[in-house]
Amino acid sequence: MRANLGPAVSLDFLDGYLFRLLQEIAGKHGLEDSGFQNYYGSRLTEKIGGLIEYEERLARYLLEGYPGHRVVHAGIGIGVLACALVCKGVTVAGVEYYPKRVASAHYLRAALIEIWPEIEARYEIIEGSYPDALIPRDKPAPPTSRFLRWRRAPKPPAAAPAPGPLTRGPWFNSNAILVFTNVASSWSDDKLASIIGSFPRFAEVLLDLRLFGAVRDTDRKCDDLFNRIAAIARSAEQLPELAIGSHFARFVFT
Ligand SMILES: C[S@@+](CC[C@H](N)C(=O)[O-])C[C@H]1O[C@@H](n2cnc3c(N)ncnc32)[C@H](O)[C@@H]1O
Repeated sequence: MRANLGPAVSLDFLDGYLFRLLQEIAGKHGLEDSGFQNYYGSRLTEKIGGLIEYEERLARYLLEGYPGHRVVHAGIGIGVLACALVCKGVTVAGVEYYPKRVASAHYLRAALIEIWPEIEARYEIIEGSYPDALIPRDKPAPPTSRFLRWRRAPKPPAAAPAPGPLTRGPWFNSNAILVFTNVASSWSDDKLASIIGSFPRFAEVLLDLRLFGAVRDTDRKCDDLFNRIAAIARSAEQLPELAIGSHFARFVFT
């Protein structure tokens, strides 16, 4: 008898279901407006599936090794890895700054919520650049008035605002695992430093050394990045077994 679509839904099923949704999005919006371009377009034309190998392996690794942890995926693209994780019960925040991909990520999220309404509460898509997009924004300054300078006693501070879209502190969390997959965008040195500087706010960080802020095409460049991050971590290891051809590493901070 076939399994139903309950919480035990398999990654194989999700792979096929996400592939179908990707076809739907590309059919409605085209490869450009959906933000797919060749990157996701090739999954359709070459009939690869919704998830590619490293995403499926990483999903299995996270599901097995980190039950009960939250995951922050920085640079989710259209969020297929996030979709696989939330369908398996993980709470995920996906950060992405490319608006067309954010729109496609919302499409996928909405399609999953139709089947599994509980996903709504555990999958947040945050549009913006990591790490700034997770930093709580300052409260707006009180309006200045020429009368204010005559006030003798300052007003007591207002109560802290209730958590909402402007207070995203909870995602910087020592229970959360920060994940980067294939973010080979050209980050400036300052951007790279601020991203690495955010790592100690998490329990662990998993990333592909070869595709992190730039393409590192030699083992030496990958090792340099590994050593740079390992120097601020409690422990670190490379995970060559995680997916063929990838250079994933794990950094532990708590
Ligand atoms: C090549 S795509 C890969 C998407 C996904 N990580 C994967 O493995 O399929 C990289 C994505 O990361 C996004 N990105 C890169 N740096 C980012 C940052 N600092 N904050 C948010 N998004 C970022 C890009 O806009 C792009 O959509």
